This record gives sequence, C-alpha cells and structure tokens, in this order.
Amino acid sequence: KSRVGVGIVGFGTVGTGVARILLDNAGLIRRRVGVPVELIRIADLDVARDRGLSLPAGMLTQDSRQVLDDPDVDIVVELIGGYEVAKHLILEAIAKGKQVVTANKALLAVHGEELYQAASRQKVDLAFEASVGGGIPIIRALTEGLAANRILSIYGIINGTSNYILTRMTQEGLAFEEVLEESKRAGYAEADPTFDVEGIDSVHKLAIMVSLAYGTPVDVKDIYTEGITKLTPLDIAYAKEFGYVIKLLGIAKLMEGEIEARVHPTMIPVSSPIAQVHGVYNAIQVVGDAVGDVMLHGQGAGSMPTGSAVVSDILSIARNLVTGGVGRVPAASFQPDQRRPLRVRPMA
Ligand code: NDP
Ligand code: HSE
Repeated sequence: KSRVGVGIVGFGTVGTGVARILLDNAGLIRRRVGVPVELIRIADLDVARDRGLSLPAGMLTQDSRQVLDDPDVDIVVELIGGYEVAKHLILEAIAKGKQVVTANKALLAVHGEELYQAASRQKVDLAFEASVGGGIPIIRALTEGLAANRILSIYGIINGTSNYILTRMTQEGLAFEEVLEESKRAGYAEADPTFDVEGIDSVHKLAIMVSLAYGTPVDVKDIYTEGITKLTPLDIAYAKEFGYVIKLLGIAKLMEGEIEARVHPTMIPVSSPIAQVHGVYNAIQVVGDAVGDVMLHGQGAGSMPTGSAVVSDILSIARNLVTGGVGRVPAASFQPDQRRPLRVRPMA
C-alpha cells in the first residue's frame, strides 16, 4: 500500500481535533507509518461553520455516503455520537470492508458485541482508544500493556465534565449550573450532558473497561449508577472541613469470581493521589496480580486530547494495512457466550 486514506464522519469537537492532528503532524505520521496517511473526506451536517482549518476544496461534504463509498477511504472514523445513525454507519462501513475507528462509548457500551462481531466476521479492525479516558491510552493498557495480569480492580475518575464541575465547585465555590455551561462551551460535555452529570457516561466507560479486563460483555443496567446532580456546595464544604474531597468514581473489582461494578460520588482523603486530579483530567488506577498498581493520568476530554487517541488508532490500523494486517488492534477479547456474573453492590 502506498498510502492510507481516512474519512471522518462528524466534524465537531473531536472530528476537528483529529483533522488538525492529521494535517499538522502529517510528516511525523508518514515517517511512523511508512506511507502518507491522507485525510480524504469529512462529512458533517454543517459544512459552513468555520473550524479554523484550511481544507482542500471538495473535502467537506454533507453526505456521509461520500465517505463510505469513496474507494480511497480505507479507514472510516465515526465521530457523530449517538446510537442509531452511528451504528448503521459503522455496520455499513464494516460491510464495505473499511476499517473503523470510533470514540462512541455510549454505542460501544450498549451495542458493542454486535459491532465487534460484525468487524470480526469481516476481518476488519474496529478501534476505540478514545472511548475511555480521552487522551489516556487506557484501552491499549488493558488489552496490551497489562495483558499478562489478572485484573483485580479498576478505579478512577472517568468523566472529565463531572470532575471539571466538582473541581470548580470545590475550589471556587461556584454553582453547579454555572460550571456545567462552561464545560459545554469547552466541548467536554456530551451532546446530552445528563450523561455526564448523572454518571451514565462513566457507566459506559466502566462497562467497556470491564468487558476488556474480564473478558465478558456487560449489561450497563447491572452497574449501580449515581451522578453528581444531588451534591450541593454545602456537601462539598463539609467534606473539605473533614479533610476529604468528593469525586465521581467508576469502580470495578473482582470478588470471589464475580465483578462488582459501580459509579457514584465518593469521599476521598485530600492526601490521596486521586484527590489531586483536577479539572478535565481523568485518572485510572488498575491493579493487576503481577504488576501491582498502575495509575494513568491525563486529559479526559476535549478536542486535541481525544483527537490524539483517535489518531493513535488510525496509525495502528494504517501500519497494519501497510504491513499486511498482522497484529491488528485488539477489539473486545471476550467470547460472547462467556458472560461472567456481575454483582451490583448497593451503597452502604
Ligand atoms: P460534537 O457534537 O461536537 O460533534 C458531532 C458532529 O457530528 C456535529 O458537528 C454534528 O453536527 C455532526 N453530525 C451529527 N449527525 C451527523 C450525520 N448523520 N452526518 C454527519 N455529521 C453528523 O460531538 P463530539 O465531537 O464532542 O463527540 C463525538 C463523539 O466522540 C461522541 O461519540 C462523543 O461521546 C465522543 N467523545 C467526545 C469527547 C469530547 O471530549 N468531546 C471525548 C471522548 C469521546 P450537528 O452539530 O449539526 O448536529
Ligand atoms: N463527556 C465526556 C467527559 C467526554 O466529560 O468525560 C470524554 O469521554
């Protein structure tokens, strides 16, 4: 292969970051892959908005079919979000033999099995590094770097918007709604921000991590879910007075063969490393039986950090296309019939 072509569907916060990285770092990417990785087409409903990028005429289209049908597009990057349209787009791309990259954790958490199986049948990659932890390479950590380990627990801050809101409420005493508006403007929040503040986005990410770490599909309804909307500045002030900060955590633990998984606000001693994770930053601690504790920390949302994760998938796939497809990006590693029990522990 003398070049690898990329088509993006969804030119919003993340799509813009991906395009910017592919254009700005084209030389570096070419050296790392061995051939040019070219942005061929971008589809979005709005082709008039200025994204601060100068694109060749004809690259931008309103019709996602022009991305799917373009024979020069090897990798389709789904960045529209949501369920139905995104799912059909990905299944169609797979059916056409395209490689797929997505950041859509909501879709993967709910319809992941169907999508992974479709990709596996068609022998194409479906890569999703950006689905958890924004710019933090947690998917590769779980599927590659820590693959030798029995994972004992996963614990951390996995929603940037909530952490941004809690940080500003704690440090500046600001009201919840005021900070939520800011995080929307910054491009951190989901299209429906209740996903962020009600813990649903964290549940999606926890479900993806659990499915990879424990080799089992997860029904998101089995995960205890509580967000941050009921927290008041008074709760935060009391916690502070007693030497604690409140963080929204996703927690999964292996306990006697069962997996306990939950998302809820938690009081953390101020001296704990996770209490020092501020703003849009995420931190995920993984404990493996061989490696012990590993902590990953970085920006959990936003255009460029998330773009970094998406482009890392594009590069992995591009390398595989160039070298003949050996060592493909791992998708979910579970057998669909090997479901493990998931225990839901009520709050004490
Ligand atoms: P945005 O809303 O900023 O961007 C989505 C874009 O897709 C919008 O421009 C939207 O247009 C466009 N769009 C919607 N439907 C279609 C369609 N059918 N065809 C073409 N374009 C379409 O979302 P984000 O970039 O923030 O998020 C994209 C995905 O990445 C989501 O799955 C999100 O969960 C995930 N993600 C986001 C992160 C972040 O920090 N923002 C971090 C990690 C993952 P319009 O606005 O007109 O509807
Ligand atoms: N809305 C998500 C967050 C985006 O705030 O963490 C990153 O997945």
